[in-house]
Amino acid sequence: MSAVTLQHLRKVYPNGAVAVEDFDLAVRDGEFLVLVGPSGCGKSTTLRMVAGLETITAGTVAIDGRIVNDLPPKDRDIAMVFQNYALYPHMTVRENMAFGLRLRHTPKAEIATRIAAAAETLGLTALLDRLPKQLSGGQRQRVALGRAIVRQPKVFLFDEPLSNLDAKMRVEMRQEIHRIHLRLGATILYVTHDQTEAMTLGDRIVVMEAGRIRQIDDPITLYNHPRNRFSAGFIGTPPMNILPARAEVGRLRTPAGDLLPPPGWPLPDAPRDVLFGIRPEALTLQDAPAPGALPATVDLVERMGAEAYAHLTPAGCPPVIARIPAEAPLRHGDRRFLLPDYTHACLFDPLSGDRL
Ligand SMILES: Nc1ncnc2c1ncn2[C@@H]1O[C@H](COP(=O)(O)OP(=O)(O)O)[C@@H](O)[C@H]1O
Ligand SMILES: [Mg+2]
Repeated sequence: MSAVTLQHLRKVYPNGAVAVEDFDLAVRDGEFLVLVGPSGCGKSTTLRMVAGLETITAGTVAIDGRIVNDLPPKDRDIAMVFQNYALYPHMTVRENMAFGLRLRHTPKAEIATRIAAAAETLGLTALLDRLPKQLSGGQRQRVALGRAIVRQPKVFLFDEPLSNLDAKMRVEMRQEIHRIHLRLGATILYVTHDQTEAMTLGDRIVVMEAGRIRQIDDPITLYNHPRNRFSAGFIGTPPMNILPARAEVGRLRTPAGDLLPPPGWPLPDAPRDVLFGIRPEALTLQDAPAPGALPATVDLVERMGAEAYAHLTPAGCPPVIARIPAEAPLRHGDRRFLLPDYTHACLFDPLSGDRL
């Protein structure tokens, strides 16, 4: 049985804005499922309909096989963690964590046991008697997490819980959430606009655009087999390079020259315009011209320490990025020849963006 099932879910706000359209999703019991997409694509709206904080225009939300459309939030056995952790400022950490349990008349001894365990898990034991204003941003977010954990809900809902943290804390908390999931085995529905969070945390990832699902897959499948240009561009940093080309027998014609995929590589049956998608790590830079290598000029080299990103422009084409060794002796203005590895390269329809 899946923990959360959304069927034909739809949300139209009173002002007529269609925020979520025809959303079908079955979250498995114990699964860490991430909804990812740009700002405004309907992630929060979807999550809030699951939580019961937003009315459902059409379709159903079921938790553990039971339709909960008309069930108030408090009866849904879920806990939600938001971006702005919303702690009660006048309560200590311990009181903040106890609050939801008190409302549910959980016995005092049980509350104490659960708080001790959660505080231990989250490294909050020494901070239990502090007020929120005496905590750092990361510590506050930990308390918000602890408050959800002690509830021992059927499902955790996270809405961009790390967005307010600085970069270092964001990475630490991301790993913390990952460990908590491994330990508790809880069902988690997690919303983020950050593709790194999606890739590192999700058992499966739902890519959303304009209220609709564009792809649902595990991270590696999503990365290697994007089903459309949107998924391809949204997942991966730097993003996948896209070159306009004309597919002909045995070759892809680009303004900078011909690409020569190996025999057996799936080119269209008839000549047509395509978009050629290639990841930055699948481009190598040759010093000398070679068949199937595109001449290009180096615009910029970004040194990341362990590796470098070379920005190049093949004549007449949009700029591309190649991931290269950190020490590569490459400079602005250099000329190189781009040779693709076709293993995971793909073709998209220029109009629909769908993978061919
Ligand atoms: N209360 C509201 N009234 C009208 N439109 C809304 C409301 N909340 C969100 N929207 C619109 O619905 C769309 C989806 O919003 P939201 O779910 O918050 O997206 P996300 O969380 O992915 O950034 C956006 O176009 C947004 O402007
Ligand atoms: Mg949102």
